[in-house]
Amino acid sequence: MALEGAFDIDADRARTFVGEFGGRLYADLEAVLADPGVAIVANLTPVSQHYAVTKATLLAGKYVYSEKPLAPVLEQATELVELAKERGLLLSSAPSTVFSQAAQTLFKAVGDGLIGTPRLAHGNLDMGALAFMPYSEWRSRRGVPWPYWDEVPNGCVMEHAGYQLGWLVAMFGPVVRMAGHTALLLDDKWPELTKVAPDTSFGFLEFANGAVCRISTGWVAPVGMTLTIIGDQGTLSVRDVWQASSPVLRRRNVMESGKTNGYLAEAEQIPFAVPPVSHRYDDTHDLTAGAGIADMARAALAGGQPFLSADFSLHVLDVSLRLSEGWGVTEGA
Ligand SMILES: NC(=O)c1ccc[n+]([C@@H]2O[C@H](COP(=O)([O-])OP(=O)(O)OC[C@H]3O[C@@H](n4cnc5c(N)ncnc54)[C@H](O)[C@@H]3O)[C@@H](O)[C@H]2O)c1
Repeated sequence: MALEGAFDIDADRARTFVGEFGGRLYADLEAVLADPGVAIVANLTPVSQHYAVTKATLLAGKYVYSEKPLAPVLEQATELVELAKERGLLLSSAPSTVFSQAAQTLFKAVGDGLIGTPRLAHGNLDMGALAFMPYSEWRSRRGVPWPYWDEVPNGCVMEHAGYQLGWLVAMFGPVVRMAGHTALLLDDKWPELTKVAPDTSFGFLEFANGAVCRISTGWVAPVGMTLTIIGDQGTLSVRDVWQASSPVLRRRNVMESGKTNGYLAEAEQIPFAVPPVSHRYDDTHDLTAGAGIADMARAALAGGQPFLSADFSLHVLDVSLRLSEGWGVTEGA
């Protein structure tokens, strides 16, 4: 499969894109959907557009890889998943960091029993106090501003919890019980925005395999992107889940003599289980962008589902929405 082209309501952006990556410049979405050469549409629009663009694309009989989340509300996302299933179409959603070297190595290490039975996970997606950063000056390499006017009203959970949840669900299975608390602590720091959403979230998750997790997501606490898995025989940790090549470190349980509470050996790096993905997103974070689309193309050619299947993506969205709403204890998430 190859890149066929791009469409953006801002034609200059699509022009810049095809100028760099090649392909056709489409005049509108209808032109994309009418092109028999197009098998997969990557929906990279803002969250408010995800449902409409994905629905139109599925109705045109094409597969969709959507930026996260599938849709802003569960009803819309469920409708999209059902539509895809009815029509026999593949539907998948970012984040695709599950394909990173760090994630794949962690999954294999847990699966191979390197720390025995995994019992507990501590995950953080705290990106620092956004309100105190020069966010309005942030630009991509092509000079495009970071769209804080979209992201801040979506809230920290809807924007970022999926980065940890995807890894956890991939390792431990679906969430079966959960509780969450959210807060909006810096609501007075965004005078230019008419809507803001939770900037701090704590979740407590129990997974199908019995493991439990404490997850912190937000843009108030200082930067912390770690994931630590605690098992019967030691721990595995990744310092930064937003860096595809972040080392995976194991500390084995060792018996200490004497009066000490130390029981973990020095950290040892686990060799990466997979090579790096061939194209990396050239930014401050290495989010393995593109790997999800590549995996969907593989699934389309081979038959079967992508790793980030429609059901997987819907479950991650469901848990994110419950966390975002700050629900109390809920069963059968
Ligand atoms: N900014 C980030 O760091 C980042 C990282 C990962 C994922 N994402 C996700 O990617 C998506 C887009 O975010 P972004 O930061 O690239 O936003 P952006 O605003 O920079 O880009 C979105 C593009 O979509 C175009 N667009 C808007 N409506 C459209 C429509 N109906 N049809 C076609 N084009 C349309 C806009 O003109 C714009 O060029 C969001 O879902 C976001 O959650 C963003």
